[in-house]
Order: sequence, then C-alpha cells, then structure tokens
Amino acid sequence: MNRNIIVFDTTLRDGEQVPGAKLNLQQKLEIAQQLKRLQVDIIEAGFPASSAGDFQAVQEIARTVGDSVTITALARAVRGDIDAVYQSIKGAQDPLIHIVLGTSNIHVEKKFSRSKDAVLEMGVEAVKYAKTLLPQVQYSTEDASRSDFEYLWRTIEAVVKAGATMINVPDTVGFAIPEEFGELIRRINDRLKNLNPDVILSVHCHNDLGLATANTLAAVKNGAEKIEVTINGLGERAGNASLEEVVMALKVRESAYQCRTNINTKELLKTSLLVSHLTGLDVQVNKAITGANAFAHSSGIHQDGLLKDKQVYEIMSPEDVGAESMELILTARSGRHAFKNAVEKLGFDTNDEADFEALFAKFLTLADEKKEVYDHDVFYLVTNHRTTDASDSHLYELASFQVVSNDLYPTATVKLNKGGETFKGSAVGEGPIEALYSAIKTLVGLDVHLKDYKINSLSRGNDAIGRVNIRIEYEGKIYTGRAMDTDIIKASALAFLNGVNAVLLDLVTV
Ligand code: KIV
Ligand code: ZN
Repeated sequence: MNRNIIVFDTTLRDGEQVPGAKLNLQQKLEIAQQLKRLQVDIIEAGFPASSAGDFQAVQEIARTVGDSVTITALARAVRGDIDAVYQSIKGAQDPLIHIVLGTSNIHVEKKFSRSKDAVLEMGVEAVKYAKTLLPQVQYSTEDASRSDFEYLWRTIEAVVKAGATMINVPDTVGFAIPEEFGELIRRINDRLKNLNPDVILSVHCHNDLGLATANTLAAVKNGAEKIEVTINGLGERAGNASLEEVVMALKVRESAYQCRTNINTKELLKTSLLVSHLTGLDVQVNKAITGANAFAHSSGIHQDGLLKDKQVYEIMSPEDVGAESMELILTARSGRHAFKNAVEKLGFDTNDEADFEALFAKFLTLADEKKEVYDHDVFYLVTNHRTTDASDSHLYELASFQVVSNDLYPTATVKLNKGGETFKGSAVGEGPIEALYSAIKTLVGLDVHLKDYKINSLSRGNDAIGRVNIRIEYEGKIYTGRAMDTDIIKASALAFLNGVNAVLLDLVTV
C-alpha cells in the first residue's frame, strides 16, 4: 500500500525570509487560506519571537485556519522563543512546537562556542520544556547533512527520549547530493524505527546546488515520512524544495515512489500565482509545474505529436495542476451573479455581503477600463482587495497625481492623504517615474532608495492590467511594494507608496 507523505509548508516562515518578500498580515492570512485549500497538512506560520508583527500573524493564522490544518511556528532552543510559539499557536486545534538547534561541528563551535555535550543538553532541555506546554514537538537538527553522524544520532536519540514527536533533518546549506542524503535518511530511519516507531522522520532541503527537489525525493525513497517545502521554492538564498515539484513528482511517478500526499493538485497554479503576486517575486517562465511555459509546446514536431495524442509529449495534463480553470471572460454587463460565480470558482468566499459589494464596485471600474475581464484579472482583483488595508491612519493614500513626460523637465505633481491630512508637492526628474518618486519621497519625508523597478502586464486582452513591483532600501533593510492598474503611471505611484507604507508598518511594529 502507498505510504502517506505529510506535507509541511514553510512558505510563511523560510519563504518569507527572502529579502524583500515581507508580507503584511492580510497577505499572510490570504496565503494561509490558500494553503488550506491546497490541503497541506502543516503550515509553519512564522517565527513569533522575531517581532511583534510576526507573533500577531502566527496568532491570527492559528485562529483562522487552525481548525483543520496543523499550525506550527519556529523557536530556537530557548524558553523565550518556545513561550512565544506556544502563546501564538495555542488557539489552533492541532498545534505543534518546532525547535531548531545546530548539530554540525561548525554550528556547535562557531555559533554556540560550547561543547557538543552542552549543546545537546540545551536541545534536550528545550524539548522537555516544550512538552510541558504541548504534546506535539518537532526537533530540527540544523545543518544535519554536514554533521558527524554519531553526534547527530546521539542528539536525535536524546531528544526523542525527551519527548520529540517529529525529527526533522535539514540540509540547511544545500550541500547534500541525492545519493548521500538518501543514505543519511536510510541510516537514521533504521535506528529511529528501532528506538520509537511512532516518531515521524522529516526532511528540509535547500536548493544551493539546484538539488533540493532531488534530495527530498531521495529522502522519501529512503523512508522520510514528511517533507518541508515552499510554494515556488521560495526560501533562504537559492530557496527550499518546491512543493509543486515534489508533490507532482510523487503523483506522476507514484509507482516508483509508492507514496501519496493529501495535496489537491488542482490548486497548485493558483497558489503559485498568489504567492508570486503577494511577494512580488516572479516565477521563472520555464519553472517546472507552474512556470508560464510549463505546458506550452512551440516546436512544430511537438505540436503535431500532441494533436495526434496528448501523451506523446505530455507526462501530466495542465488540468492536473489547475491550469485550465483560468479561462472565463466577463464584461461590465456580466452582472453580480456571473461575477460572484467567477470569484467562487477561483476558490474565494463571497459570504460577507458588504465586502462582496465593494469588490463588485471595483470589478465594474475595471470592466469599464478594460472591457474584457479574464479569470486572471478577477484573481488579482480579489487578492488585492483582500490584502490591502487602506483604513490604517498611519499609511499614505494616493489622492491624485499628474505626470508630464518630455525630454527637458519631466515633472510630477502628487497629492497624498494620511489620517485626515493632505500633502501636496511637485518634483522634476530625469524621467517621469523618477519625477513621480522624487515628489512622493519629499512628501513622506523618508530617505528611501529605489533599488529595483519592474513592470509587466498581467493576463491578456486589450488594456491588460500593468503590475509594478519595486524594491526600496531604508536604513539597510529592503522593502517591496507592488500595485496594479490599467494606468501604469498610477500603478507606479501606488507601488512606491505601498513600499513606503511597508516601511512605516515596520517602524510601528519593531
Ligand atoms: O534550513 C534550516 O535548517 C531551517 C530549520 C529551521 C529547519 O530552516
Ligand atoms: Zn531552511
């Protein structure tokens, strides 16, 4: 019989550690709801000891989606971190404390400057303390793939005896190769099953050598029962193993792995789009499973073969990952019912009538501007509506703007509102966007530096929506801003303000 593999998603913790991928509370909640629709088994919602904002986000996620998904959050092996995790996740139905502590020589000697025995004891004490709070405790042996095997095993044995219910073996720096990592998992699994067959063995692979998916699959083949993954492979440096790749490999090659997951693969594309949209991090076009070209066939030979039989060149169908659902066209005359139907078909709820009316008004404005509204547009409209908080009086709103583009003095005039106050000003620049950003910078009085500006068109049809992603630096930290509009100059102004508001929110929560 096929083994069930537990899918632990860490997009909101390891994924969110990517510079500039910081998400606000509503964005995190929207992603958590989507992860629930995707049917992941465990959501790692954040690192609550890191900031008050992270604590609040984990708490809200536990409250809103913790009825059917296991919720966890990360703690270092110290009481303060463990308390923060416990306090933030205790509202969930099935909370899990996740503790991490290094086991490699380099971590023990350089990070902790303590003896190996002392570090091991720290881990044991942390697990014992966590067990006084909750029954489910995961222990991660950070940098396991570069650790001395016997010390790694001694640590695992000790923390299992102290009560750990899951052992996670991370390839923290992406150093492992599939044959070696598979063998490491096989050895650990053999001993662990003798020690306590109920303890779950898990893996967490990073992609520094482009091997995260291969290493995760090698681990599954050798006994791992749980995989830690992220949407779009987001994560520290080159990222983590990508959920969509590992899950589809297990599904398409089921007979080779003899494993299954609970993932609803038809939600994969939508989840990928949502995460990419909210983090502002694009998915490369040739990315396996969810890249724009993943199911596109351009050569004549391939097209001819496909027309004869899809299986000639397709190992899975676009429908399997939810690619076919993005195909409806609405207009301003479609009416409430059709719009509601489209929103619900994309998996969003429409129960709150006032919220739906506000959304419908935005749809009509968009349909007037754009004439043909595609499923992609509806998807971005809803996610933007649900993840932007215009009511916060600490934040700036764009009231109006005018930009004059010429080859002498490109000029911008901007009016902003913030908490009942109005700010007006003008600036010139080398180009219209520079003039616009310079006017906004002067009005908000923050010394932010534009590091990156990206514009692309979303969906298809005439008057496609333009999406602008920017990255700005403020006091050494990177913040992202994003916005969409059929007017790309307006989208540029809104994206910059979105970035400025992210700085302001950070200043409030730090
Ligand atoms: O990469 C890593 O080691 C981690 C641990 C917290 C599991 O992210
Ligand atoms: Zn990691």
